[in-house]
Amino acid sequence: MMVVALGAVVLSGCGGTGVPNAASVDTSKGKQLFTATCGSCHTLADAGTTGKIGPDLDSAYVGDRLIGMKDSSFEALVRQQIDLADPPMPRHLLKGQDADDVAAYVAKVAGVKLAQQYNPGSSPP
Ligand code: HEC
Repeated sequence: MMVVALGAVVLSGCGGTGVPNAASVDTSKGKQLFTATCGSCHTLADAGTTGKIGPDLDSAYVGDRLIGMKDSSFEALVRQQIDLADPPMPRHLLKGQDADDVAAYVAKVAGVKLAQQYNPGSSPP
C-alpha cells in the first residue's frame, strides 16, 4: 500500500499528462513556444502561423467550441496530443511546464474566433 501511495505522489508531481493548475500556466509564453515549435506544421490564427502539415487547429476545434466544450477539456486534449502524437507529429516536442503552457494557450484561442463568427451571440471566452 505504501509503495502505491508514494507512486501516485511522484506521478502527480512530475508534470505528466493531465490538466495543469490554471494559475501555474503562462499563455503568452505558450504562444511563443507554439509559434516556434508547432507553427511550422499547424495553422492557428491567433499565433499567426500557417503550417499545412498538420490540421488547422482553428478548424479542428471550432465544432467542439460550438457545442460548448470547456477550455479545460481542450487543454487536456492538446496536452495529451503532445505526449501521444502519431507520426508525422513527433512526440514530446515540449515537456513539463513548456508543454502545459502551450496546451493552455491553444485551449484558450483555437477555434474561438471562428466559433464567434458562426454563432455571434456566444460570449467571449
Ligand atoms: C512535423 C509537423 C508537426 C509538428 C511540429 C507539430 N504537429 Fe501537431 N500534428 C501534426 C500532424 C500531421 C497531425 C495529425 C496526425 C495526428 O492526429 O497525430 C497533428 C495533430 C495535432 C493535434 C490534433 C488535432 C486534431 O485534429 O485533433 C494537435 C492538438 C496538435 N497536433 C498540436 C500540436 C502542438 C501543440 C505542437 C507543438 C508542440 C504540434 N502539434 C507540433 C503535425 C505536427
